[in-house]
Amino acid sequence: MTPETLAAFLQSVERSLPWWLLLPGAFVGHGYLFIVALNVFYALPLPRKLLKYTRKADLLIVFAGPVLFAILLDVFDTQRLSWNGSVPTFLSAYVVLCWIVGVAIAPVCEIFYLLRRPAPQLVSETALTVDVAKELGYAPRGSGRDARLCALPLNQCFQVEFTEKTLLLPRIPPAWDGLTILHLTDLHLCGTPDRVFYHYVMDRCMKAGVPDLVMLTGDIVDSDWHHRWVVPILGKLRWNIGAFAILGNHDGWRDVSLIRRRVRRAGLVMLGNNWQSIDVRGERMIVVGNEAPWFTPMPDLGKCTDGVFRLLLSHTPDQIAWARANKIDLMLAGHVHGGQIRLPLLGSVFVPSRYSRKYDCGTFFADPTIMHVGRGLGGQHPLRFFCKPEVTRIILRKGNQPFAA
Ligand SMILES: [Fe+2]
Repeated sequence: MTPETLAAFLQSVERSLPWWLLLPGAFVGHGYLFIVALNVFYALPLPRKLLKYTRKADLLIVFAGPVLFAILLDVFDTQRLSWNGSVPTFLSAYVVLCWIVGVAIAPVCEIFYLLRRPAPQLVSETALTVDVAKELGYAPRGSGRDARLCALPLNQCFQVEFTEKTLLLPRIPPAWDGLTILHLTDLHLCGTPDRVFYHYVMDRCMKAGVPDLVMLTGDIVDSDWHHRWVVPILGKLRWNIGAFAILGNHDGWRDVSLIRRRVRRAGLVMLGNNWQSIDVRGERMIVVGNEAPWFTPMPDLGKCTDGVFRLLLSHTPDQIAWARANKIDLMLAGHVHGGQIRLPLLGSVFVPSRYSRKYDCGTFFADPTIMHVGRGLGGQHPLRFFCKPEVTRIILRKGNQPFAA
């Protein structure tokens, strides 16, 4: 397309649409593009400081966009978008692109997002919300750097949802019918919430019955000091068969070997990027850890026996493609925290994933893998709006459904 053709197209758009209709759509599209870009960028294994400054710059551009559009295009004076030569063509073209994204692409993506279907193997789901602050008799804000954020109105950072999900799987051994897996993720031990909060949550998990397996999918520690909490907190857990853990990106920014040692001392097997074959009620199960992309090399399943149930712990749901290629039956992930701040009707916004919001939380099926993405217990910032912290108990049931699993 030549510059003249583009200019003619832009002018025809302007003639057919009043500026006050075009601009709001363009604002939405502009914000949408930069938020998706930020989500994808945050999925990359980049230095923490680079991510932090990129986030600030991105948010500045998102919020400055409408003002810049209005000033550069001089819309309030001219009542037009003025792309008649005084405004660079690329800016005019960008406004139209944003408008197309804002009025067409973003709404279509939102509809697809809202219509996502949970995994068909998920046959029942119950959730019990416990207001830990109420149970303890005080708000366990602790001494973390952002503890004051806990007091914001509507912040749900202490309202933990204890979820129980039943998966009906036709191909598991009959002995596994009723097998329970406790999935914990993203504790982010950093002082807020305080240690008593985590003690309470672990005790409550045990109160529901000792699970057969405990799976912890990373972001355990989020300060240089709070690795000291790992043993007393995780030490409260009990299990019948085994407990396994991997690390996440926030652990990777700390003393990794120290965190791994502490987790082992609490009794959990630190999988890293490796796999183990374990005995579960007399049948083999392969338990795989995948800490990519922050830790490499990726696990090699070349020597795993085919046909044996494979359970994957991955910090990020972005490893779903790897899981499918490696015939993983069940994948547990965290990392994205459900977005932490979810807008009523619209859902999550900031989700650090190459898939953006697609796998923000919930249970999904991408043949042959069932993936459960937990919202996690904590976060670097104690902000939870319409997105409660979560721990999940998964129950496997043997059943003859028409789908493969
Ligand atoms: Fe996290």
